[in-house]
Amino acid sequence: MVALNGRDLLSLADLSSTELQELLQLATQLKSQKLKLQSNKVLGLLFSKASTRTRVSFTVAMYQLGGQVIDLNPNVTQVSRGEPVQDTARVLDRYLDVLAIRTFAQQELETFANYAKIPVINALTDAEHPCQVLADLMTIQECFGSLNGLTLTYVGDGNNVANSLMLGCALAGMNVRIATPEGYEPDPKIVEQARSLANNQTEVLLTHDPELAAKEAAVLYTDVWASMGQEAEADDRLPIFQAYQISEQLLSLADPQAIVLHCLPAHRGEEITEAVIEGSQSRVWDQAENRMHAQKALLASILGAQ
Ligand code: CP
Repeated sequence: MVALNGRDLLSLADLSSTELQELLQLATQLKSQKLKLQSNKVLGLLFSKASTRTRVSFTVAMYQLGGQVIDLNPNVTQVSRGEPVQDTARVLDRYLDVLAIRTFAQQELETFANYAKIPVINALTDAEHPCQVLADLMTIQECFGSLNGLTLTYVGDGNNVANSLMLGCALAGMNVRIATPEGYEPDPKIVEQARSLANNQTEVLLTHDPELAAKEAAVLYTDVWASMGQEAEADDRLPIFQAYQISEQLLSLADPQAIVLHCLPAHRGEEITEAVIEGSQSRVWDQAENRMHAQKALLASILGAQ
């Protein structure tokens, strides 16, 4: 079994290609097999943003592994009253075995990881969403048998999901195309990192042309046009992103066997049409289920299981 003993997962780039493959293999096994942690362990969920899938899938995964979960809502801890991250991290370190954090700045997550000796998992920051992309790659592998050489096209905002998809696809030997409006491209540092991981073996393409990006792709992927924390910009973004919707017309340009993914929650009629998300090529519900299997594999690998 892949051994990430005691390690943090702050970015997908914390994994090697081999570790990613082994983690996806374990996640697929855990869909039908039971596994228990070597000893009773406690996971803390410190989420400063709303969550349905990540919160519930981490909780159920930990319970099924024989562990326990504490939901550390910032509103009922001293976090919301401004206790320094360094202090919270050193205290939680003394109680918990692993901590999953959802917050705004990647820097805050990194400070937590620096001050806590226990493993820290990125459950979403403004920069990355690695746990989401583990489930995405697992879903693509289930559909196509392997990942190597496939092309994933992401259409929409160059956000945290786009950033982690670039890293995940590069590690998995996939081509990745990111189509965004001008000014909404993914983080240039992460683009550079993904290109370095791809090592000229696969493509990491940025474009403003969604039709070019969709051509013959195996996977079309999108996310909301305004992420958590960007609500005030949402209305202004609507006309800018209109051409970046996954519609039946855009899907018709992809490979005929293409699948459609969305990390959810979705805004039907904005980034994706009702017909596509509910259509025969949509795999979004399998993708959402796989969050639980992928995170169970991650927890088992970090904490040790038998
Ligand atoms: N995709 C995702 O992270 O969903 P939640 O925000 O509901 O956790």
